[in-house]
This record gives sequence, structure tokens and C-alpha cells, in this order.
Amino acid sequence: MFRTKINGIGRHLPDNIVTNYDLEKIMDTTHDWIVQRTGIEQRHWVKNREGTSDLAVIAAKQAIENSSIEAKDIDMIIFATITPDYFFPGSGCLLQEKLGLDTIPAMDIKQQCTGFVYGMATADQFIRSGMYKNILLIGAEVHSKALDKTTRGRDISVLFGDGAGAMILSATNKDDPTCILSSHLHSEGKFAKELWTEAPGMGMDDEEFMSYDILEQGKHRPYMNGKRVYVHAIKRMCEGIIESLEFNKLKLEDIDLFFFHQANLRINTAVAEKLNIPEEKVFNTIQKYGNTTAATIPIGMHDAIEAGVLKPGMLVATSAFGSGFTWGSSLFRY
Ligand code: COA
Repeated sequence: MFRTKINGIGRHLPDNIVTNYDLEKIMDTTHDWIVQRTGIEQRHWVKNREGTSDLAVIAAKQAIENSSIEAKDIDMIIFATITPDYFFPGSGCLLQEKLGLDTIPAMDIKQQCTGFVYGMATADQFIRSGMYKNILLIGAEVHSKALDKTTRGRDISVLFGDGAGAMILSATNKDDPTCILSSHLHSEGKFAKELWTEAPGMGMDDEEFMSYDILEQGKHRPYMNGKRVYVHAIKRMCEGIIESLEFNKLKLEDIDLFFFHQANLRINTAVAEKLNIPEEKVFNTIQKYGNTTAATIPIGMHDAIEAGVLKPGMLVATSAFGSGFTWGSSLFRY
């Protein structure tokens, strides 16, 4: 029986920084509104032809460099994204080719802002079972190309950023204390339409999956019931932490650091307040990057390592919530 340890982390943000003041020039919004409601001050948006796997490959190479393995040792790619390069095939296959990794399996998962937590749980199962030893897990998004950057889309477009995070997960022996201790995953499809992009898709009533009507109605742009998402996010992210603690028979005080999904600073502050978590134990990055969906947790972990906040041996809890609705938590010793 094996356990899974985090063996290297990398991240990449596109060079192009878009501040709230830049957004003021293209839509009816203000820096103050965005900061007060979300905490976001800027985000990175790709320029030109950069795609999701282009961001991922840079993050992946960095994660490999920060790990004890070489690219050739990777047995599998798991790619979490809701903004893949193409409708199909999945971005994992594209990344495999960009890394020159022969015929290893590549799997995309679409679990929105909970994507990375689902990905960690999936990788953990492949490794625990002994099927694979080293898995490259990616969370990467290019939201900016799909956002409505006019006043019509301002409630959503100011929130999202592009970026990629990568993690090498490797097998370790069952007595190694630095490993993934637990994962808990959930979904509740009755809220699927509260945060979704309806088109293009095969669930549409139309005969064609894309039409001028769809474009005119903006059905290819994300829709969000912000208030409903907000309330559920706080509730479910709190539950995720409690579920992890109870399962591992741990107390809140035992956790050294918390990585919450980065959707809104107010959500994370509310979760911390409800659970009585001291501010210094929560690592937030949303101010600089906005919501990068599946990429937020590895990006946060990378930055926390660089800042000297996340140190080897620390007990870490993550909790994420997203469209689906989906939510999940993981607990690990780094
Ligand atoms: N700039 C300026 N005004 C804006 C705006 C923007 N970017 N976006 C919306 N507004 C306006 C609205 O039109 C509304 O105007 P009205 O009162 O004249 O109708 C007003 O601001 C208030 O909007 P409201 O929706 O009540 O704001 P809010 O306090 O609920 O905050 C969110 C909006 C989106 C920040 C908040 O609901 C949220 O964070 N929800 C969860 C988001 C999330 O987690 N998403 C990802 C899930 S993983």
C-alpha cells in the first residue's frame, strides 16, 4: 500500500496584467466597487494566441524542476480545466505532446473551481492502488477569451483571471507522514444552472449547437447567480473543512495553513470567521490573480512556498467550491 506525497509545484501567469482601472476603460465599473465586493485588484489575461495548454506547459516544467523526478518519470497527466484549448480533445493530450511524453495516459477533468481538489483525490487513488508512481496534475484556465468584457458581463468578467498551476504527486511508503491524508468530494447538480455556460453544448434545444441566436443572446458567455453562489460557497467550504477534521480526528488548531478556493475575498474572510481561523493561517492570492478556477490552489501553494509561509512538515487543509455545484476538501502534510 502506497501513500501520495506532493513532490513539486509550479505555476505560470500570463505576462499581461489587467488592473481594475484598465477595466474601467472598457465597461461601466470602478476599482472601488471591485475591491469592496471581491478584494480583486488585478488579474492576468492572455494576449494573442496563448491557450490553456501553453500556460500549463510552463507551470508543468517548473513543477518538474522543483521535484525529485524528471519528465520521463511521469506516468500520467490529469488536467483540470473548464476552459480547454479545444472542445475536444482534452488539454491533457495537448500537454503530453508539448512535454514530449510519448504515450502516457492523459485525462481531463471538468469540476470547475473544485477541479484541483477532485484532481488530487483522483491522483491519490491511482497512486495508492500502485497503478502509477508519478502523476502530473494541472489546474489551468484561460477565462479571458470567453468573458463578455462589456458592461453586460461586468458582474462576472471582473472576477476571473487566467493562469496555470502544476503539481507532481509521487508514491511514498505508507509510513511517510508527509502525504495526502484525506479527500472529500461532493456535487449537487440541482444548482447546475446557477453558474454555467449554456452553449455551445449538446443539451441545447436547438438543432445546431451553435447559432447566431445563441451568440446574440450571449448564451456562450458564463452566467452566474452571484448571491446564490456566494451563500452556498461559504456554507460548503466550511463543511469541507469540518468534514476533513472529523475524518482525521483533528482539531482546527492542528492545521498550520488553509488554502481556500479564490473566488471572492469576502467569501474566504467569512469562512475563516465562521470557523474561527486566525487570519494569518489563510493564504489568499485573489487580490493579484482574480479567480483562476482550477488553478487557484496550486498557484496559492506555489506563492506560499516562495513567500516562506508554506514549509515542509506543515499540516495543510484545502477547501473549494464551484459550479455544478461541486465542492471538496483535502488534508495533507506538506
Ligand atoms: N461594477 C460595478 N457594478 C456592478 C458590477 C461591476 N463589475 N457588477 C455588478 N454590479 C452592480 C449590479 O448591477 C447591481 O446593481 P443594481 O443594484 O443597480 O442592480 C449592484 O452592482 C450590486 O450587485 P450585487 O449582485 O447585489 O452585488 P453583490 O454584493 O452580490 O456582489 C458578486 C456581486 C458577484 C461579487 C458576489 O455576488 C459574489 O462574489 N458571488 C460569488 C461569486 C463566486 O464565488 N463566483 C465563482 C464561484 S466559484
